Formats: sequence, structure tokens, C-alpha cells
Amino acid sequence: KIRVLTGITTSGTPHLGNYVGAIRPAIAAAQAPDVESFYFLADYHSLIKAQDPARTQRSTLEIAAAWLACGLDPQRVWFYRQSDIPEIPELTWLLTCVASKGILNRAHAYKAAVDKNRAEGEDDDAGITAGLFMYPVLMAADILLFNADKVPVGRDQIQHIEMARDFGQRFNHVYGGDYFVLPEAVVDAQVATLPGLDGRKMSKSYGNTIPLFAPRDELKKLIFSIVTDSTPPGAPKATEGSAIFQLYQAFASRQETEAFARAFADGIAWGDAKQALFERIDAEIAPLRERYQALLARPDQIEARLREGAARLRQAYAIPMMARLRDAVGLRDLS
Ligand code: TYM
Repeated sequence: KIRVLTGITTSGTPHLGNYVGAIRPAIAAAQAPDVESFYFLADYHSLIKAQDPARTQRSTLEIAAAWLACGLDPQRVWFYRQSDIPEIPELTWLLTCVASKGILNRAHAYKAAVDKNRAEGEDDDAGITAGLFMYPVLMAADILLFNADKVPVGRDQIQHIEMARDFGQRFNHVYGGDYFVLPEAVVDAQVATLPGLDGRKMSKSYGNTIPLFAPRDELKKLIFSIVTDSTPPGAPKATEGSAIFQLYQAFASRQETEAFARAFADGIAWGDAKQALFERIDAEIAPLRERYQALLARPDQIEARLREGAARLRQAYAIPMMARLRDAVGLRDLS
């Protein structure tokens, strides 16, 4: 079976970018009979950005409920919380010791933080934690521990998957064995990067997100607040670079998208384009939203599922794999 693995950082409320870039394709992929799926809540990763315990907990609950509401079946899919698997941080250390610091220096998130410091005349590493720097190693451990073949992600994560390949390959080389499968990123070309309210990538760190399960009237308000240019009603509008068009495309069939492109060429008014976008998104999300609310009302059930998932997964994979790796590097057998 092909192993498919992906995670979402628990640092906020799940948004449309998470849905389109990760949840929806991952749930579709899990339907295939020849696939074994691993979907998890990256709560260790959340500590890098959000050092607010209540927020991390709330976000964990919300993202778990989002996966379940969108159709994840915990009987068919390994569904777990990263911090319930102590073998993940354990593997992180083994990988840290083969990971090249030079590669980590080139990670986008770290480089962006350094560039920002430089622009502000600060020291390169001012205010940057070792956690931010090591982020790709923790992520590699998530993936390599379970020998994932495919990792469905948005475009922003491709570099991290490449790094996971690099660290895995180095480990295999140094310790002389096929310990790790080298994972491949899977990016839905149709979707790529979903823009947010201001046209930049929809991201928690930009504060431009549309919550996946915003109530209907809030969803409408947010969609109507998307920034557009001042092309007047009746004048042809460019689809290229239009956040409204890109969002629509992520939720519509090819035919619908072509019709929407024609409406742009025919000079649809922005208000009408926004209304069409709102209706398209709401049609897909409304049934999921109801399930989400029902799930959130029973946090104890979500918690029980997560714990059960992690306990089974540790027995089946994490503990035996870690035993093999400890042996490979010359550490004591814990069993
Ligand atoms: P995170 O939490 O930032 O995002 C979770 C997933 O959502 C995708 N995504 C988007 N896709 C399209 N358009 C957008 N605007 C958008 N915003 C977010 C992301 O690409 C991602 O697939 N480091 C990861 C979490 C992680 C992980 C892993 C993923 C930890 N370990 C192992 C895969 C495998 C992250 O912070 O994603």
C-alpha cells in the first residue's frame, strides 16, 4: 500500500487554505483502496509560533473537528496528535545529528525572518528561536517515522518535503541501510496557493484568512471584503491575479470555472462576482459546517478518538520503527 501522510499546525482556526490545500485532497486520497493514510495535528509545530496554551488546545480541537466533519473516517485512516507520539521528538534528535545546518539556513521561513531583521537593521538572528530554525527537522521526523511515500501539501511546504528527503537520505547513507523511504510532495496543480482576503497567500501569519467554518453571514461578509481593483462594472476584468477568480476555481468544476472566466471577460460587476463566489463556497461547506458544530459540542469524543489513534499507531509502527533506528545508531534497546 502507498502511504499518504499530512499534517496541519494547530496554531489557529482551520481556514479555506487548509481545506483546499490539505484536508480536501487528503480525504479524497484516503478513499483509494491501495492507500494507507496518516493525518495528524501538528501541535509541536504550533509551539514555534503560538506560545499560548489555551490557543493551542482550542486549535487542536477545532482542527480535529474539521478533519472529522470533512469526512475523515478514523477507522480507515490513522488519525492522531503529534504530541501523543513521543517517538517523533525522539527521531527528531537522530535526524538533527545528520541534518546539514547549511540546508536549514536556506529554509524559507527562517530566511524570511532573517531578511526581516536585516531590513529593520537588527542582528540577523534577533528574536529567532532555535525552534523556528529546526522546524524542518521536526517535520521530517513526522514524515520519515512512518515511511510515508506521498505528502499532499500546499506549495509552501514543498521545500520542507525536499529537506525531509535529504535528511532521510543522509541517515540511510551514514548508517548504511534503507531505513527511510524518501517521500514525495503531492501538490494539486489546479489549486496551488489559495489567496486570502488581501490577495496574498491565505495564511494565519498574514491575518487574511477565511475561517473554513465561519457562519454563513460572516462568510458572506468576508467574501465581500476581498480586495478588488477599481475596474468599473461592465468593463472586462482580468482573471489573472484575481483572488476572487482563484478562490472560485478552487471550489468549482472546470465548466463552471470557464463560465466564470467568460463572465469576467464580459465585465461582471465585482459585487456579482463575489455573490457567485459566496454561493459556490457555501454550497460545498454548509453541510460540513453543521457536522463541525455538532462535533465541537463533544470534545470528549474527539479526545478519545485522538488518544486511541495514537496508541494503536505507536504499537503498530512508531515503537518498532524507533527500535530499529535506535539499533542502527548504536543506542540501547528499550524493549
Ligand atoms: P500549515 O498548518 O501551515 O498548513 C496546513 C496545510 O494547509 C496548506 N495550506 C494552503 N494550501 C493552499 N493555499 C493556502 N493558502 C494554504 N495555507 C495552508 C499547507 O500547504 C499545508 O498542506 N508544516 C506544516 C504542517 C506539518 C506537516 C508535517 C505537513 C507538520 N508536519 C508533515 C505535512 C507533513 C504546516 O505548518 O502547515
